[in-house]
Amino acid sequence: MLQLDAHPTGRHFLQIPGPSPVPDRILRAMSLPTIDHRGPEFGALGLKLLAGIREVFKTRHPVAIYPASGTGAWEAALVNTLSPGDHVLMYETGHFASLWARMATRLGLSTEVLTLKGSDIVLPQAPGWRRGIDAALIEQRLREDSAHRIQAVCVVHNETSTGVTSDIAAVRRAIDAARHPALLMVDTISGLASADYRHDEWGVDVTVSGSQKGLMLPPGISFNALSPRALEASKRAKLPRSFFAWDEIVEMNQGGYWPYTPSTNLLYGLHEALEMIQAEGLPQVFARHQRWAAGVRAAVKAWGLPIQCADPAVYSPVLTGVVLPEGVDADAVRRLIHQRFDLSLGTGLGKVKGRMFRIGHLGDSNDLTLLATLAGCEMGLKLSGIALAGSGVHAAMDHFAANPASALADSAR
Ligand SMILES: Cc1ncc(COP(=O)(O)O)c(C=O)c1O
Repeated sequence: MLQLDAHPTGRHFLQIPGPSPVPDRILRAMSLPTIDHRGPEFGALGLKLLAGIREVFKTRHPVAIYPASGTGAWEAALVNTLSPGDHVLMYETGHFASLWARMATRLGLSTEVLTLKGSDIVLPQAPGWRRGIDAALIEQRLREDSAHRIQAVCVVHNETSTGVTSDIAAVRRAIDAARHPALLMVDTISGLASADYRHDEWGVDVTVSGSQKGLMLPPGISFNALSPRALEASKRAKLPRSFFAWDEIVEMNQGGYWPYTPSTNLLYGLHEALEMIQAEGLPQVFARHQRWAAGVRAAVKAWGLPIQCADPAVYSPVLTGVVLPEGVDADAVRRLIHQRFDLSLGTGLGKVKGRMFRIGHLGDSNDLTLLATLAGCEMGLKLSGIALAGSGVHAAMDHFAANPASALADSAR
């Protein structure tokens, strides 16, 4: 057995914002024997999964499932809809948005990146990485584009590098207000099945997602939810594609099959995850994440440290970015917490590397695992010599005690 760490007892605390802790029930489902992916049993499973995942995306249209990480599904969204040299408008809310823009450029698209300008005292190097999308900027840019050169607007719903969400319905309204025909593509890789998301209602053309976050699965499968307009665009699009091409997948999916060998055991896991999500109900799933996030934020506020997201209206329900005092190496603090307490926290990415860490509050968690996580953070911060204003653990305990999960279940009904 591979020795993964020096802690022989107890469970490792995987509190990064994905991969998230996988429930035992899902791990057990994935350990069933692999079956023939062209046989009748598999076809029945495929049809059930493809119907179930549409409910999570809130769409009546096809969802393509790839044996690839989220990055593959990003590429699939672009190559299926666009042609070499097409102009795409991206909006930089954080590291993942900028990686998607880099990919677009690498694929031969002409990429334009919007970002929020201005100054920020807490993170001067990345002022746009503390707020959600300003849809007015998108509307203004699209209005200027009277020749309709812009073929697609690409945005991230839950920016995993910052802990900030964006209002996708507002982006749709901005595109409509400008009377612009650009496709709307949204990355909700870390938002799906944790944060409210509505593919059809919000008029999204391609939604990109992945398995290892709110769906509570290991990494390895990813998704493109499509719209009729996206499918139409794919008939004209000229970027080279083969493995990611929607046409064959959508056709084979009608019988519950794939054009190549799918990730059978991950699909067993997806089946189990969909059953769990359906039994709990999506409104309760969203409320549960909001409640956890509020408890974690209560802790960060009690420590007296800045939350990376500067706008309470767009706090992520999935993760919280914690900014450390100037001069402290956040990665050294993370390393110490990992070594001493067997707790993994998310590293700062890109422009904010070393300045912050991320606490994931998703997947197979509960009040007590989150309190233990916060205790690990609090001990690590103190051991690193950081002066804290108060006890975050106590603040979170008070929050969870005063806001029982049962109250949320009632209000979500
Ligand atoms: C918002 C977002 N987009 C894209 C990705 C890339 O996905 P993957 O690492 O599965 O390829 C991630 C991964 O964390 C993400 O959080």
